Amino acid sequence: MSTVQALADTGLQGRNLLRIADLTPEEIGTILSVADGLKRSRATDQLPLLRGKTLGMLFEKPSLRTRVSFEVGMTQLGGHAMVAHGPDFMVGSRETPEDVARVLSRYVDAIVVRTHAHEPLERFAAAATVPVVNGLSAAAHPCQALADLLTIRERFGTLAGLRVAYVGDGRNNVAASLAEAALLCGVSFSIGCPPSHRPGDEFLTHLERLGRPQGAHVRAFTSVQRAVRDADVVYTDVWTSMGEEHLTERNAAALLPYRVTPALMALAAKHALFMHCLPAHREEEVSDAVIDGPQSVVFDQAENRLHVQKALLLALLTELKGMPA
Ligand code: CP
Ligand code: NVA
Repeated sequence: MSTVQALADTGLQGRNLLRIADLTPEEIGTILSVADGLKRSRATDQLPLLRGKTLGMLFEKPSLRTRVSFEVGMTQLGGHAMVAHGPDFMVGSRETPEDVARVLSRYVDAIVVRTHAHEPLERFAAAATVPVVNGLSAAAHPCQALADLLTIRERFGTLAGLRVAYVGDGRNNVAASLAEAALLCGVSFSIGCPPSHRPGDEFLTHLERLGRPQGAHVRAFTSVQRAVRDADVVYTDVWTSMGEEHLTERNAAALLPYRVTPALMALAAKHALFMHCLPAHREEEVSDAVIDGPQSVVFDQAENRLHVQKALLLALLTELKGMPA
């Protein structure tokens, strides 16, 4: 498995992944290449590099893809995953995020956490002595963004020079991580959203800085048509994220013009992909005709969560120096 050898030099061992901007473009490139190698080889041919390792997973919110893909990934690499659900372990009344992190660090080799607010996750990660991976917070969803880049790269054969148009809630976790990932990898990023859902100027400046060395740019448009015109990828997510259910009606009213329909897709490049992190609210943010249509790669994205997270776990958890190439 020579691709795995590439991880030995990344220096990712023992690190946390809370936001995509924690990674360099080179580190992202290595993770994607290893994920690609793992995807091409049958799971039964892969070395049990995580034998004896346990991944702890704490979920304050529901999950299908994140939970199952991490668990299956650990099994395929010879390790084990345990999952705890519920509000008590993190910000609940029982104990502080720091104490939970210190205790869990004595039992497991890495921890995936899905939280509501991002700040307790930062506190948790600062106190943990094993790698902590953000399995989605209100601010970021870095594992999704890595899987999305892998999906785009396998379709176009490259990333640099492409343009992703993200339409809908431009301030949510998926948009933020995808934007960081895209710009770091030389993919320009257009956001189509109403002013109420536009990322703050400070975040847009941060994104522009990330993209500058690669010649990639970010732009936010109120006009969904302008955002999508000639884009290589059209991406959307639910209008209301988990934990913001009280905003459902307000979001639906503001975001209705940003639904991805066949007419909107027709404005993008002919070869454009449609992407969505799932779960989707069909006939809200996207028409059935688009998500079930020939341009849609949503299930490739879901599958790629598995491959990219296996690569990430190997990078964070294994001492690969000296492994046979
Ligand atoms: N896309 C994603 O993270 O899905 P889950 O919420 O089901 O994990
Ligand atoms: N923005 C969505 C993503 C779900 C994977 C949410 O946070 O609910």
